[in-house]
Amino acid sequence: MRAALFTEVGRPLDVVDDIDIQGPGVGQVRVRIAACGVCHSDLSLVQGHIPLPGPTIPGHEAAGEVVELGPGVDSLAVGDHVVLSPNPACGRCEYCRRGEPSVCTGSISIAMPMFPDGTTHLSRPVGSGAGGRSDVVYRGLGLGAWAEEVIIAASGAVAIPVDVPLDVACVIGCAVQTGVGAAINTAAVQPGDHVLVMGAGGIGISIVQGAAIAGAARIVVSDPSGSRRELAMRFGATDVIDPDETDVVGRTMEITGIGADVAFDAVGSATLVEAGLQAVRSRGTVVMVGAPPPEQDASVNVALTMFTEKRLVGSLLGSCHAPRDVPRLVDLWQSGRLDLDAMITARRPLTEVNEALDDLAAGRGLRTVLVP
Ligand SMILES: NC(=O)c1ccc[n+]([C@@H]2O[C@H](COP(=O)([O-])OP(=O)(O)OC[C@H]3O[C@@H](n4cnc5c(N)ncnc54)[C@H](O)[C@@H]3O)[C@@H](O)[C@H]2O)c1
Ligand SMILES: [Zn+2]
Ligand SMILES: [Zn+2]
Repeated sequence: MRAALFTEVGRPLDVVDDIDIQGPGVGQVRVRIAACGVCHSDLSLVQGHIPLPGPTIPGHEAAGEVVELGPGVDSLAVGDHVVLSPNPACGRCEYCRRGEPSVCTGSISIAMPMFPDGTTHLSRPVGSGAGGRSDVVYRGLGLGAWAEEVIIAASGAVAIPVDVPLDVACVIGCAVQTGVGAAINTAAVQPGDHVLVMGAGGIGISIVQGAAIAGAARIVVSDPSGSRRELAMRFGATDVIDPDETDVVGRTMEITGIGADVAFDAVGSATLVEAGLQAVRSRGTVVMVGAPPPEQDASVNVALTMFTEKRLVGSLLGSCHAPRDVPRLVDLWQSGRLDLDAMITARRPLTEVNEALDDLAAGRGLRTVLVP
């Protein structure tokens, strides 16, 4: 099959046609990818900030059609339209038993380049392919969907109505689950809350939408990009800040009076996590959504945090449980309360994957969707 392949940092992705895909195995399905978004986490993989081995197929924000069921799968049918989760829950581990599937340890995780049994179901012939030898190919960020097909645990493929366009629904897979989920699940934003969102990419804009759905009164967005600040206003921000011109913490204090109820880092920067701790009120919450390089540490004044009862929490894919949250998000889109269409500012064939990554790095548009 065709796929976009990351091999080493600094080298553009290669679009190749000779990937062998095996399966589905027990409990898995094979899905033909209709569309897959381009997320900053993919860019971080390609730039080496999220260290993964090559050759890897990136892409983790996808939707498609089920084309084959593995043994034991009775929850889906061939022909079902599905949104894919890069973090499917196993349903059996201690976290799943506790009703906390977003940190499931028994299944593949978004950080793993292979299935829990060590296989990837993906390979590529060595050299010309003569002699029958093949090299393993890894699954990027829990999925590997910049490809014509993926193998995925059935629990990670959530059926959606067939009249929802797949090249729109795909952004639910990462950006929208992550952002709306961070606001609604992780932070439990309340009606009347004041929130600060630092970073207005696909993730930050989805946080803005989630906060608006939850009834936030003030949604303050900081982003150095003027076009991203304009987009934020269109998606529900009430105030925008250029952090290169204005002190974000000071301006947030002016707007909110005592500080924000919730501040989100939607960039991936320890400095912004520290700023968030200053920008929230006593008992306020800082949500770490952005994914900085693994070596970054933030500094927390323990005594001050203790006295002010501030909370610092991580949020992986919006603390979502895909089988519960994907249908809810589709429903919000169908009822006109969640705008997915305007988040997608470009569609490109897989062969233009490098141009799509260049656009993301430069902040052109918002979300590009690759159509294999
Ligand atoms: N927690 C999760 O499960 C999860 C899921 C997906 C993505 N992510 C991470 O979320 C982050 C955002 O992803 P994205 O796809 O929206 O990226 P993006 O590149 O589309 O957007 C990032 C935005 O941050 C802005 N920015 C840069 N520096 C800033 C600063 N100092 N203050 C305010 N804004 C600033 C940029 O101008 C840009 O608009 C990335 O780190 C990504 O890896 C996390
Ligand atoms: Zn992502
Ligand atoms: Zn589990």
